[in-house]
Amino acid sequence: MPDFYRKIIENNKKWVEETTLNDPQFFERLAQGQQPPLLWIGCADSRVPANQIIGAQPGEVFVHRNIANMVVHSDMNMLSVLDYAVNVLKVKHVIVCGHYGCGGVKAAMGNESIGLIDNWIRHIKDVYRLHNRELDAIEDKQERFDRFVELNVREQVNDLAKTSIVQNAWNHDQPLFLHGVVYGVGSGIIQDLGVNISNNSELDEVYQLSF
Ligand code: CO
Repeated sequence: MPDFYRKIIENNKKWVEETTLNDPQFFERLAQGQQPPLLWIGCADSRVPANQIIGAQPGEVFVHRNIANMVVHSDMNMLSVLDYAVNVLKVKHVIVCGHYGCGGVKAAMGNESIGLIDNWIRHIKDVYRLHNRELDAIEDKQERFDRFVELNVREQVNDLAKTSIVQNAWNHDQPLFLHGVVYGVGSGIIQDLGVNISNNSELDEVYQLSF
């Protein structure tokens, strides 16, 4: 067996031993079920592990991750996670977490073809086009990249709010708060972007659903 693979299996044994030593009922309790208050939509980037950076224990956060923390309204995977989180688990908060230095966002700023992923990156390019006036006006490339990461989070939070799942929950007066944050891979710090939505009145009228 390759060393890294062997190491992670051993790490798991150690983790189970240590966890059980500190809290003998830990796994028994988790086996009863889950009631996480939070759905996390983050980037697949290995440097942004959801639970670890927010100090959440197993059972505390329902997680969906993809390249560049995208909310694509026709993505059955995302919609299934969102539907289960909102309608079955009844999470109260959904966080979209972007991160500085995101490879997906960087690729979307450029023109190079990377392969199949170009079609996923396309969704991020649409965000650029939506904000091209602001972004093109930023001369410093790093600053423009950082701002693009932030604007992408903002758009994904808006796209969450536009889903029938979220608007239906709001229509039933189910408390559901959407938040946009950005993580600094070089600092470890999560920054609130001031995008906090809890009803559909902030959406452009054309997206507001009546039930
Ligand atoms: Co990323």
